[in-house]
Amino acid sequence: MSLSSVRSVVRFGRFETDSVKRRLARAASVADLRGIAQKRLPGGCFDYIDGGAEDERTLAANSQAFADMQFRPRVLRGIEKIDVGTEVLGAPSELPLVLAPTGFTRIADPQGELAVARAAARAGIPYTLSTLATRSIEEVRSVSDGRLWFQVYAWRDRELVTEMVQRAAANDYEALVLTVDTAVFGRRERDVRRGFSLPPTIGAGTIIDGLRHPAWTMAFLCNEPIRFANVVGRSVGDGSSPVNLSDYINSQFDPALAWSDIEWLRSIWSGRIVVKGIQRVEDAIIAADLGVDAIALSNHGGRQLDGSPATLSLVSPVADAVGGRAQIICDGGVRRGSDIVKAIAAGADAVMAGRAYLYALGAAGEVGVDTLLGWWREDMRRTMSLIGAASIAELDRSFITQ
Ligand code: GLV
Repeated sequence: MSLSSVRSVVRFGRFETDSVKRRLARAASVADLRGIAQKRLPGGCFDYIDGGAEDERTLAANSQAFADMQFRPRVLRGIEKIDVGTEVLGAPSELPLVLAPTGFTRIADPQGELAVARAAARAGIPYTLSTLATRSIEEVRSVSDGRLWFQVYAWRDRELVTEMVQRAAANDYEALVLTVDTAVFGRRERDVRRGFSLPPTIGAGTIIDGLRHPAWTMAFLCNEPIRFANVVGRSVGDGSSPVNLSDYINSQFDPALAWSDIEWLRSIWSGRIVVKGIQRVEDAIIAADLGVDAIALSNHGGRQLDGSPATLSLVSPVADAVGGRAQIICDGGVRRGSDIVKAIAAGADAVMAGRAYLYALGAAGEVGVDTLLGWWREDMRRTMSLIGAASIAELDRSFITQ
């Protein structure tokens, strides 16, 4: 056989020298990114991101609800162009998607929240910074001219909340997202078993784990220490010494937060208010009656009350009860653009997603998050083309089984 005939059937691809690109080239789905993140991150960090409360039934139910819902496609609709853009909280968003607040994002990648905020701005969607972020309100604004929201936990020290809210206003954050499902901390048994602390420690118990994940360990040791950046230097503790998150939250957050506190929040903030963690219709009605701008149906990604309903199952009943009075956002189990299409068809105005981008960040850093958001944009276009819906406004319950 001559060399030229071998050449005609064998094509040698160029070797990709960039290790991040090489890693991403092996990934086609969020499940793939999760697998890569699992290999790269120490077990404690991966489990903190990946895990849920107790038996993780709600965690599983969130995804199962998307799997159980099917499309009812229409064909021959003459659609050439698909538009996945929409309005979220009164301003344009290139996708009906908001990146959810996640605590301690730097355990996935040293750039942490900065990387996620930049990726969200490039994708033209809002990003929500967590109270328990590892980059501050000001640092995140300094790298993004995109839409930013700030998630609020109710600290017992209300002056601390007021001060954070003022910082968010001064830095042009457009919405506050009050988390209402964390009266006390959920029992995440993976963290209990591992004795996981934040920031993570490299010590006798974790040294082998650290050695097995050298890239993460080098980055952890060579970058500035991970701190709870929004409360650095405050009496509440900023993570300079590692804490057990459950003890920390149970001692610092106010379990007596009540509906009257929405009024209080309004008295210190003139922007939009989203209440995140609504899990039944009656509460959605109270929130709408109080005039909040959006209701975020959420069970905290199955990390709080195990046994909460799958969020997707709440979307249509809540849309029937309050749709039009407040926007409806839902999170929990979103892994594909087709999941976003299902949630919107059920009646949501937008979805939030957290874990998926943390897997992307842990797998491949900032470019991983860009890749994920690019996939989801294409997924949405493809799905809408295949079900025969040209725009977000056209998506309704006729396109899904419930
Ligand atoms: C923080 O909000 C967490 O869910 O761990």
